[in-house]
Amino acid sequence: MEQDLLNQFQSVNSDATSLIINAESLSELNEIKLDFLGKNGRLSIAMKVLSQTPAEKRGEIGRLANEVKTTIEDLIAAQEKKLGAKVVTTGLTSTDVTMPGILPPIGHLHLITQAIGEISRIFEHIGFTRVRYPEVEWDWYAFGGLNFPQNHPARDDLETFFVDANVDPKHGRMLLTPHTSSGQIREMTKEAAKKGEPISIKIVNIAKTYRRQSDVSHTPMFHQFETLVIGENISVTHLKGVLDYFAKSWFGPHRKTRIRPYHFQFTEPSFETDVSCGVCEGRGCNLCKEGWLELGGAGMVHPHVIKNCGLDPKKYTGFASGWGVERVLMMREGLALPDLRILYSSDLRFLQQF
Ligand code: DAH
Repeated sequence: MEQDLLNQFQSVNSDATSLIINAESLSELNEIKLDFLGKNGRLSIAMKVLSQTPAEKRGEIGRLANEVKTTIEDLIAAQEKKLGAKVVTTGLTSTDVTMPGILPPIGHLHLITQAIGEISRIFEHIGFTRVRYPEVEWDWYAFGGLNFPQNHPARDDLETFFVDANVDPKHGRMLLTPHTSSGQIREMTKEAAKKGEPISIKIVNIAKTYRRQSDVSHTPMFHQFETLVIGENISVTHLKGVLDYFAKSWFGPHRKTRIRPYHFQFTEPSFETDVSCGVCEGRGCNLCKEGWLELGGAGMVHPHVIKNCGLDPKKYTGFASGWGVERVLMMREGLALPDLRILYSSDLRFLQQF
């Protein structure tokens, strides 16, 4: 019985050795490894038999068994190294190293992010500073300070997203900014706090805005860019000049702008601004009807708003405008998207086109 086991270990040893050193590939070697060292491999089975023989009879066979095991393991490791090195060398000789590699797919900025960058640069070119303010904000900044009456419909739960947070006695409820005009109050209040220094504000606030709307032409989150210029002797001519400059930079040098009377709570006078139609150049066509396309709101900052921020409206005047990023982008590209929500649907078939 013991002799049999001894023979068994010896033949395992010689069989394994010759197979391992003659193995020609890593996969072949792997099979050999399983055949001998695997759970039901020849060595493992012999080991099991050994463990069942009485301890006093194991002596020499035990020593042999351990030797066989380390020999096989060492041989396999050495052969693995040899075959692995061969893969690399043969791999190199059979590969044309001058062939171009496979480029990993490279993404790009979202089209709205690209537009935001471009809008910032246009305004920065004429001395504006890009700023950003909280997008989760108090009522005071989004409505109260901007002259909205307490019962204004924009304050309704059906229009604006309110945040379930404690009401602040001074600033009211928390909400997701429904427009970038909240930045006006933030900016003027910040400047007014620098008491004694002359005030000169020239900012463009580009941020996310949120409204309770989602359909083919609205997304609940969209972007606006808001200008605010405050100083001494700022007039409507400055407003007209800046908006005209933006329209020409964004849409092309031949485009013209016009302003029409309108109403906003926080500006007086208030305007709606239009750009001449790029298709008919202002003559009137199927797209624009009368030669003009609506861009967005603007106006002279209301004296109450200036006062609400701690500035003297007799000394300081200014203008503001607030337009939609998505809107001006679609207008420029002539993109009539059947559903605006595609902008934020992460559909690569769409996004890769920009
Ligand atoms: N906040 C307005 C809106 O979202 C847009 C707007 C109108 C901004 C007139 C202004 C402005 O700064 O002067 O509809």
